[in-house]
Amino acid sequence: MNPIQNPFSPGAGSPPPDLVGRDEILEQARILLGRVAAGKSEKSIVMVGLRGVGKTVLLNEILRMAKDADYLTITMEAHENQALASLLVPGLRGVLFELDRLAGLSTRVKKGLGVLQSFVSAIKVKIADIEVGLDIEPLKGTADSGRLEVDLPSLFEAVGEAAQDKNKAVAIFLDEIQYLSKEELSALIMAMHRMQQRQLPIVLLGAGLKVLTTLAGESKSYAERLFMFPEIGALADADARKALHDPIERAGAGIEAPALEEIVRRTQGYPYFLQEWGYQAWNQAPRSPITLNDVQTATASVVQRLDANFFRIRFDRLTANEKHFLRTMAGLGTGPYRSGDMAEALGTTLQAIAPVRAKLIAKGMIYSPAHGILDFTVPLFDEFMRRTMPDAGE
Ligand SMILES: Nc1ncnc2c1ncn2[C@@H]1O[C@H](COP(=O)(O)OP(=O)(O)O)[C@@H](O)[C@H]1O
Ligand SMILES: [Mg+2]
Repeated sequence: MNPIQNPFSPGAGSPPPDLVGRDEILEQARILLGRVAAGKSEKSIVMVGLRGVGKTVLLNEILRMAKDADYLTITMEAHENQALASLLVPGLRGVLFELDRLAGLSTRVKKGLGVLQSFVSAIKVKIADIEVGLDIEPLKGTADSGRLEVDLPSLFEAVGEAAQDKNKAVAIFLDEIQYLSKEELSALIMAMHRMQQRQLPIVLLGAGLKVLTTLAGESKSYAERLFMFPEIGALADADARKALHDPIERAGAGIEAPALEEIVRRTQGYPYFLQEWGYQAWNQAPRSPITLNDVQTATASVVQRLDANFFRIRFDRLTANEKHFLRTMAGLGTGPYRSGDMAEALGTTLQAIAPVRAKLIAKGMIYSPAHGILDFTVPLFDEFMRRTMPDAGE
């Protein structure tokens, strides 16, 4: 059928034709934004889930809601090798400048800029574009200890007070939160703790792989009190059918029930896969309605595309040893996997696998959803590993 009219949108962060099955989380976000804007406290939200389940799409939707609710917003995406401070400072500076432009003199906003300047002067990372533009005296002695866990709460406090003074609220959006270092994550938690204690209008909307397991002690217990961690996963079968069926109907075409069932079975309801299969099935079908046969024809090219892109993204950056580790994991079947079982399957000890395990976590291939447990970060990755390395012995 005509690819120009194809309603599906496979791709990282691409908004789906229908955002199906996510009403509950969107409602939670609406309540959070409403309460904080009204000066009440509420738990911030960090969405956790595998790649391709729709976390970025949800963050973008909540960003729209925040803008509609007149929030000042900051959007950031963490990376493997980028300091949190270097991500945050430009956004916070933008917020303070916007507050400064709003009617009414505010010493709090000026103070906020001074605190930001002193924060910048104390951080050890170099941030090229922060050095310009702030011809403001640093407020010495605040947020400039050089220790993030101390300075970030002070900085947030100054920004929060400035926003409160101008009757504004600030929403910080942080994607790929699993890339923060332990120190950065706990500094962020301490900063949000300060917001709650002082009832200041800053909320955090985060998304990423499950990260709480890397935290310990105080920051862990704060995190549990300060944040909701809704799990974003595959769609239920009825929602998955709807995510395929409705956009096709709206585009003036149809899909037969067995075709629908086949896609739901193949994708196991994972949003990214639904978009890929829907997209290819549409293009493969000579005419409406899309039949089981069309889907089966499409499957070969979908699998090929997934193997070449989605699954392969980081695969090529792996060493032979790392690939062997992942292939051994896949050889144990469907996850999650116990670290102990992995050591045994590799014929070695837990201690001996620790370095390769750590490297694979840093590269975003696997993660640890709970103590002593490992899993792939991408759904159906075990099948990909078995396909791409049929020979387990290497
Ligand atoms: N609720 C949903 N229903 C159908 N498709 C969705 C849904 N949420 C996301 N998608 C699709 O899934 C894909 C991955 O979304 P993305 O937000 O990038 O996932 P993540 O950030 O979790 O890796 C995109 O192609 C998007 O269109
Ligand atoms: Mg994403």
